[in-house]
Amino acid sequence: MRILVTGGAGFVPSHLCDLLLSQGHEVVAVDNFVTGSARNVAHLSEHPGFRLVVADVSRELPVEGRFDRIYHMASPASPIDYVQLPFETLLAGSDATKLALERARADGARFLLASTSEVYGDPTVHPQVEGYWGNVNPIGPRSVYDEAKRYAEAFTMAAHRTWGVPTRIVRIFNTYGPRMRLDDGRVMPAFCGQALRGEPLTVFGDGTQTRSFCYVSDLVDGITRLMESELVGPCNIGNPHEMTMLALADAINRTTGNTAGIVFRPLPTDDPTQRRPDITRAREGLGWTPKVGFEEGVARTVAYFAERLSS
Ligand SMILES: NC(=O)c1ccc[n+]([C@@H]2O[C@H](COP(=O)([O-])OP(=O)(O)OC[C@H]3O[C@@H](n4cnc5c(N)ncnc54)[C@H](O)[C@@H]3O)[C@@H](O)[C@H]2O)c1
Repeated sequence: MRILVTGGAGFVPSHLCDLLLSQGHEVVAVDNFVTGSARNVAHLSEHPGFRLVVADVSRELPVEGRFDRIYHMASPASPIDYVQLPFETLLAGSDATKLALERARADGARFLLASTSEVYGDPTVHPQVEGYWGNVNPIGPRSVYDEAKRYAEAFTMAAHRTWGVPTRIVRIFNTYGPRMRLDDGRVMPAFCGQALRGEPLTVFGDGTQTRSFCYVSDLVDGITRLMESELVGPCNIGNPHEMTMLALADAINRTTGNTAGIVFRPLPTDDPTQRRPDITRAREGLGWTPKVGFEEGVARTVAYFAERLSS
């Protein structure tokens, strides 16, 4: 198949490009490097099935020819990024989603939206099931991301109902692995960077807030399965293995041999207190479960960051 991946030079989307190419598809990645980097796909530059186009997908999709599949992955995604890039984030959810869906309609392509567990906000239902409508602050600093993704989901469902576009929506939970940026502000690279530099790890609040971390190869496996399934409604993909930030800090200090301990800082505004996906729909509908255990995933990620810091 011929496949378009918006945001293809980002952390998750670059792994998606790798997987799609390994399955024998032709892939066109479109990215403006607002938060991604050509380095993430540099290893694909000689691949005959791969092409990287530099463009802002909120404005245009300057790629000729018909696509069979469109994965709309472009958006700033870490809290630091979307607070610094509020309008770019809103437009990635709104204008870019509209353009990509119009292209899917014109091409007769299947479309998948990369949505997020942030549509659940600070959830009052735990673990989060797809039927939960969420608890989002519409005007808080995180709202540019949360509400853009909620709008993108609404646009996607409207395109499905009104235009008949075959659409899929993946609600991605915290994902980690190689090609994350050390300075993207997310907890996993932040802890790894501090630990590898021998510094104390910064824990926000009292560290009892929880997250569930999915290794990136498991995530992109789930995303491609969802695209090829018949599940139209949103589908959570994430690892239900939930842990506190204190437990994560301990694990990273242990893996890296860091003895500098931890320091506490005030909790940022609207930081969700708990996060764990209910993955019944993915398990039953896609035959998907995460395969990479936490220790293994952390070891691979630490090795990647260690190499980046030394190069
Ligand atoms: N990583 C996670 O834990 C996570 C969790 C939930 C949802 N997601 C979603 O998955 C997708 C990828 O996230 P990621 O973590 O890999 O982030 P990322 O920032 O590494 O990747 C996003 C990519 O999109 C590109 N991009 C952004 N706006 C663009 C535009 N207007 N035109 C062209 N390219 C643009 C960026 O340059 C970047 O390469 C995002 O849609 C994000 O919301 C990720």
